[in-house]
Amino acid sequence: MDKEIVIEESTTVNEIVSLGNSYENNMARIAAIEDEFSHTLDPILRMYNAAMNLTEARLNIIKDEFEFRNLRVPIHHIDTRLKSSKSILGKLEKKGMRLSLTEAFNNIYDIAGIRCVCPYIKDVYLIRDRILAQDDVHIIEIKDYIASPKPNGYRSLHMIIRVPVYFMNKKQLVPVEIQIRTMAMDLWASLEHDIKYKTLSNNVDSLDALELDIEDELLQAAELIYSAQQKFEIMNSIIEK
Ligand code: GTP
Ligand code: MG
Repeated sequence: MDKEIVIEESTTVNEIVSLGNSYENNMARIAAIEDEFSHTLDPILRMYNAAMNLTEARLNIIKDEFEFRNLRVPIHHIDTRLKSSKSILGKLEKKGMRLSLTEAFNNIYDIAGIRCVCPYIKDVYLIRDRILAQDDVHIIEIKDYIASPKPNGYRSLHMIIRVPVYFMNKKQLVPVEIQIRTMAMDLWASLEHDIKYKTLSNNVDSLDALELDIEDELLQAAELIYSAQQKFEIMNSIIEK
């Protein structure tokens, strides 16, 4: 005989989200926030998202070209991220700017961010040159932290560009930050970010107890990783001539 399926488990809102006071639990307020978001930041973020996707597509087209030509592909992977409203606010605060959407729109160039991770250093410059050669891309800034690494050991090539986006029936030139780096540089930057984040959220006493000069350790790790990178560069230059 067929049994009737009875779902006995039930859940409460508090098991999913932790609601504080009744103010946070106010549905009229929640609807107002959603409405305000959809009339202010949301369309702006969608435009940045479009710029990010279009730029990622340009990089994927380069990748595809090397694939169909049966050549070694100069891109290992591409990551994208859209800055959250919280980090946009944090950046405005850090830079001492007015905490307004207009200020963010006019002054923050990394709302749309792309990271292009390459096998070798020559690939980083190949990607840079391919972007520079696209005549509808406007270059705002290039910072070469590979030729001149940051004092902490950070290496990467940063480009801020403006790409045309047809949005709301208008051509908008939207800023996108592209970070181009090798897999080895990406390994260091990811772990350094993790260590730095944990160092900040831990208390300093416990770090002192470890008797570890974190900054010095990170710099040493950067140089070790970079010398491994250089070994691979030499091997590659011999086999790829
Ligand atoms: P802002 O653009 O205001 O952030 O300052 P800036 O122009 O001096 O920054 P820069 O172009 O040097 O770096 C921007 C981004 O690069 C950061 O948001 C990080 O994603 C990355 N970056 C820069 N320095 C470091 C670093 O020391 N470690 C790691 N892990 N990432 C870094
Ligand atoms: Mg910057």
